[in-house]
Amino acid sequence: MHCTRKITDDLTWVGANDRRLAMFEGVYSVPYGVSYNSYLLADEKTVLFDTVDKAVSRRFLENVTYALSGRALDYLIIQHMEPDHSAALEEIMLRYPNVKLVCNSRTQTMLKQFFNINDIDKKLHLIAEGDTVCTGRHTLSFIMAPMVHWPEVMMTYDSTDKVLFSADGFGTFGALNGALFADEVDFNADYMGEARRYYTNIVGKYGTQVAALLGRTSKLDIEMICPLHGFVWRQRLPDIMSKYELWSLYQPEENGVMIAYASVYGNTENAAEILSSILRNRGVKSVMFDVSVTPASEIIAAAFRWSHLVFASTTYNAGIFVTMEALINDLVCHNIQNRTIAVIENGSWAATSGGLMREKLGKCKSVSIIEQTVSIKSALDNAQLAELEAMADALISDMENTAGV
Ligand code: FEO
Repeated sequence: MHCTRKITDDLTWVGANDRRLAMFEGVYSVPYGVSYNSYLLADEKTVLFDTVDKAVSRRFLENVTYALSGRALDYLIIQHMEPDHSAALEEIMLRYPNVKLVCNSRTQTMLKQFFNINDIDKKLHLIAEGDTVCTGRHTLSFIMAPMVHWPEVMMTYDSTDKVLFSADGFGTFGALNGALFADEVDFNADYMGEARRYYTNIVGKYGTQVAALLGRTSKLDIEMICPLHGFVWRQRLPDIMSKYELWSLYQPEENGVMIAYASVYGNTENAAEILSSILRNRGVKSVMFDVSVTPASEIIAAAFRWSHLVFASTTYNAGIFVTMEALINDLVCHNIQNRTIAVIENGSWAATSGGLMREKLGKCKSVSIIEQTVSIKSALDNAQLAELEAMADALISDMENTAGV
């Protein structure tokens, strides 16, 4: 049985939700599920925007059949070849043998890598930046968006109804649960965290490309954004646009301190907790994460949110504790920039974690690491309270000098 939502008179959501997926892309937990969005435009020509993941392809195919209402499918626009959006492509081609695949030359290459379809080139309608396809009442133009999130990604702009089909851009983790539009839920309270976690982990590395894309889409008259995951935006577009501007430029959203710690027996944790208390006593927001417990994707999202970052790690196998080392590597890979950082180390006989964390994080662009440090030998010494106070002083002083957050 189909489960669709009308967006406009001739545009229908035909996607599906997956609430059983343990790890999106094999890496990111999705405790609230994930939606795979697909859209069917029923104009003089019929147009499908992408397909879905194989896990939900049955529901999707039922939805497409219903939305087509007996008509043939004329075009499948492939905005993104990642299999969470292209897995049902072959089945669509079997069901609608005359469908034309609208895609760019990079997509053409990937199509041949992912699928072994006879005479695939004859099925293609190749387009490039700025090309248009008229489907009757609607005129669609194409905006290349390389590395948002893969090199072949493109977006589609419907100038008739002023809709931007944004591929992975403006997506959110979480199943839709019957809602389709961001204004049908309390997005800021319930979903902004998942939007941030989605952006920072999936596209966060490619801020330069996202910023360039935002510059180009800002010239378009957009009334609605239809992403491939999460909610459709038809109200408060500037809210999500402004978040994307900050995230793409690696600018923090809020002044405050994110403290991530790795502690085996609780002594490094204690230092982190005391620092957090000192900051709170001074009226500064702070959040804490045990890197051995909290998924890295949540900590990466928090690192993009907050202005100041503290990493506290015990020394382990003569290096950084394993979960902290993995987190820092991940953060560096996601291109974290424009942050002030402090480090706390622990080592009962030969502490190395502080220097090694400084070395890794110091390679990030526009990152400054404050001089004040704390080196714990097994457990905090009473005299080291002053060192934590000095670290808090340095963080707060830097925060006060940070304009614009
Ligand atoms: Fe949702 Fe990059 O795929």
